[in-house]
Amino acid sequence: MEKRFSVLVVGGGGREHALGWKFAQDKRIEKIWFAPGNAGTAQLGFNLPFASTDLDGITGWAVKERPGLVVIGPEAPLCAGLADRLRGAGIRVFGPGAKGAQLEGSKSFCKDLLVRQKIPTARAGSFTTMKEALDFLEGMTFPVVVKADGLAAGKGVVIAESQPEAVHAMREMLENRVFGDAGAKVLLEEFLVGEELSLHAVTDGKNLVFLPSAQDHKRVGEGDTGLNTGGMGAYAPAPRATSQLLAEVEEKIFRPTLAGLAAEGIEYRGVLYAGLMLTKEGPKVLEYNCRFGDPETEVLLPLLRSPLWDLLVAAADGDLAKIVVQTDHGSAMTVVIAAPGYPAHPIFGQKIDLGEELPDTAIFHAGTKTGKHGVEVSGGRVLAVTGWGTDLKSARERAYAGVKGVRFEGRHFRRDIGHRALGKVVFEE
Ligand code: AMP
Ligand code: GLY
Repeated sequence: MEKRFSVLVVGGGGREHALGWKFAQDKRIEKIWFAPGNAGTAQLGFNLPFASTDLDGITGWAVKERPGLVVIGPEAPLCAGLADRLRGAGIRVFGPGAKGAQLEGSKSFCKDLLVRQKIPTARAGSFTTMKEALDFLEGMTFPVVVKADGLAAGKGVVIAESQPEAVHAMREMLENRVFGDAGAKVLLEEFLVGEELSLHAVTDGKNLVFLPSAQDHKRVGEGDTGLNTGGMGAYAPAPRATSQLLAEVEEKIFRPTLAGLAAEGIEYRGVLYAGLMLTKEGPKVLEYNCRFGDPETEVLLPLLRSPLWDLLVAAADGDLAKIVVQTDHGSAMTVVIAAPGYPAHPIFGQKIDLGEELPDTAIFHAGTKTGKHGVEVSGGRVLAVTGWGTDLKSARERAYAGVKGVRFEGRHFRRDIGHRALGKVVFEE
């Protein structure tokens, strides 16, 4: 008998739409649910009325419906222990438990593990009082990086050029608690210079399956200027990531990370996503994330030739040794279209015209919902338009052709995604 699979994707952004889009191409999968999903995911399956952090709601639903797999997209439910709850109820889950998710949820936990395992990373100290932090700051050269220990929606990192700036950032976090409890502890870190690289591996705690390397664009403005965002675009693979570099990263970074987790008694089943800085002395870890990147997922999944189901189920079952993944030899690029005012004060509610469907292009919804007048803007990052082709240049042409067709009032996007690989080419409408 033909197998019929079902999957729940937790989350409601571009990453989750891309996961659903990939699952929807698999003829064996007959049901896809999202919690909570968005206007794009509603086209692929069923949106459930649960926030991604509603552990009781999601667990209660899963115990009744028994999906064949739950994939947890965002970090917040992972750090809150959703994977543990579901596993405890006998449900198959892709995503680490709360202990493993500390790799992202606590920068000091991550740093301690990196240091214990002698993994290359920026030198750092962690503090809970201003006095200790000020003492440590004495010995540092500027710029220094001030980080809130906990989850701060990508906003908890300040690059301070001077002593007063660093002191201000530390005060805001430790004393004024601008990030709440996430700032009860701060890290002071050496500033690293180089190009950044995202590397994702799927793991069952013992084996690693690497996905193509990628580069994100975190600043809102062209030429990497302006405020930090969740990510304004990405491409894969990154030409800088040669096979030699990737072999070095596997041996010096990923393998000892898994060994470090195992030494803590943590069985990590999910994505290990390393944010790396390619410094003159070699690759160093900036941070780990415990999940797929967003918008990296929107370029990685279109390049994946093998079924996503088999890969994630094998990781969830601790059976990844048998999996070999095929990826496309071409490239993919995604351009995020943001709401007016994003990231500081985004404005929502505009009606979106998605334009025509184009070949080798996908429009992933992030901050959208279905309202009275059709698809409307409901989040800061609204859509991620991905194009793919034989090389990065053709991927870029397709992505921007897709962007051109999408209209809503005040939309904005970066016109230079891929500039590190392609040089300074700027899209003109
Ligand atoms: P994180 O959330 O730790 O990845 O930090 C967000 C961004 O801040 C990174 O993507 C880097 O651009 C920058 N960053 C973080 N740590 C450092 C560091 N030690 N040196 C230079 N830049 C950093
Ligand atoms: N693209 C950055 C992130 O997912 O954290």
